[in-house]
Amino acid sequence: MPLSASRLVPLWGYDDPRGRLTSLEEGREVPFTVRRVYLLHDVPEEALRGGHAHKALHQVVLAAAGSFTLRLDDGIQHESFTLATPRLGLYIGPGLWRTLESFSPGTVALVLASAAYDEGDYIRDYADFQRFVGVPVTSDGPPAAPPVAP
Ligand code: TYD
Repeated sequence: MPLSASRLVPLWGYDDPRGRLTSLEEGREVPFTVRRVYLLHDVPEEALRGGHAHKALHQVVLAAAGSFTLRLDDGIQHESFTLATPRLGLYIGPGLWRTLESFSPGTVALVLASAAYDEGDYIRDYADFQRFVGVPVTSDGPPAAPPVAP
């Protein structure tokens, strides 16, 4: 799917002196039925997660705490998103290669997914991903991440 099959979604929130509440609802911020929820936490700062695409899975990803960078690639274009607030979700449609990196200490990434875990839905090889999205297969793998600012 083209990169336009992803979008940042502002989440509903309620704030008062007792703190902040953030909610996601199916049919409101989440454009699919949620079949699975998982967390990424205790991720070392230097870790690189993701490095795959999904054939059919839809997801919404957000930083429940901390921050990280999520890079999406549709085989032609790529874009990096910094997720740094629980009030913003990133909807990711199928057919997008993703990498997650630069996790700040204490980050908790929350992922809502449209299906149960199924290894058969993963595309873990970049050339297979290029074939899946119908672009020429290159030998140099996914585009390199931009250099980190000093
Ligand atoms: P993976 O999706 O490759 O991690 P990430 O994309 O965050 O780097 O998952 C790592 C391992 O955990 C892999 O063996 C698949 C397994 N797994 C499950 O069993 N259930 C799940 O819901 C998820 C997301 C992964």
